[in-house]
Amino acid sequence: MLPVVDKPAIQYVVEEAVDAGLSDVLMITGRSKRSIEDHFDRAYELEEALNAKGDSERLAAIRESADLATMHYVRQGEPRGLGHAVHCARQHVGDEPFAVLLGDDMIDARDKLLHRMIEVRGQYGGSVVALMEVEPDQVSAYGCAAIEATGEDDVVRISDLVEKPAPEEAPSNWIIIGRYVCDPAVFDVLEKTPPGRGGEIQLTDALRTLADMPSENGGGVYGVKFRGRRYDTGNKLEYLRTVVQFAAERPDLAPEFIPWLREFVQAHDAADGVGGPGDA
Ligand code: G1P
Repeated sequence: MLPVVDKPAIQYVVEEAVDAGLSDVLMITGRSKRSIEDHFDRAYELEEALNAKGDSERLAAIRESADLATMHYVRQGEPRGLGHAVHCARQHVGDEPFAVLLGDDMIDARDKLLHRMIEVRGQYGGSVVALMEVEPDQVSAYGCAAIEATGEDDVVRISDLVEKPAPEEAPSNWIIIGRYVCDPAVFDVLEKTPPGRGGEIQLTDALRTLADMPSENGGGVYGVKFRGRRYDTGNKLEYLRTVVQFAAERPDLAPEFIPWLREFVQAHDAADGVGGPGDA
């Protein structure tokens, strides 16, 4: 629920799903996440108060979050890992392919990653993960993929996956970012997946099993290489960068925000003695 300028990060993620044509959203939440449900619900008292004040701009903004998608909620109960969270969606999803979007990761609305992943699932079948190339010292924070080329520049076949490997055990520099399109076969696999890294049921481990399964049983895992803009709002420094970048691109804020930011940095540097002739 941390705001990025004036909307919670999670709303950008729901907007991304809706933009890719997925308007039925099941939110897997945990304890003390009731504010999420309230945010995507109608707020009648607030709407009435804004209406009475004639504040149509704010009224439109709060209605927008409630009208965005058909929202459903499931509570995970115990935090037993991402794989367990995904399994909580089984009854809602049934026997259809579905997308998983992790709430901490934001993908720039101009970079149509999820559209492309849905297209790749249509072409290749199986499951599809989003991959990004990182420096070798970063792989241990992510799921990491062993990849093989296909005829397409941005699509790879995945032959193996490792959750948070030590750098020397990483099969490549390509890591999974928080976007997946899963075949419903993942549910049966998750049921048999033992706890892995951190004692948690890992989606990465279930996908590893799927990568080895024949396509007629819902197997096969593909990767879409993403070279666009991703914002990790789960990381303090990246969160701050994201807010500044988004504010700097907003036509209603940028004309005042950017000169302020420039002055702020200059004053900060001057106070620190940075940027003076001695630092050249
Ligand atoms: C999860 C996944 C990991 C993936 C990452 C992307 O890890 O388990 O494979 O690379 O999300 O953000 P977490 O960040 O929840 O530890």
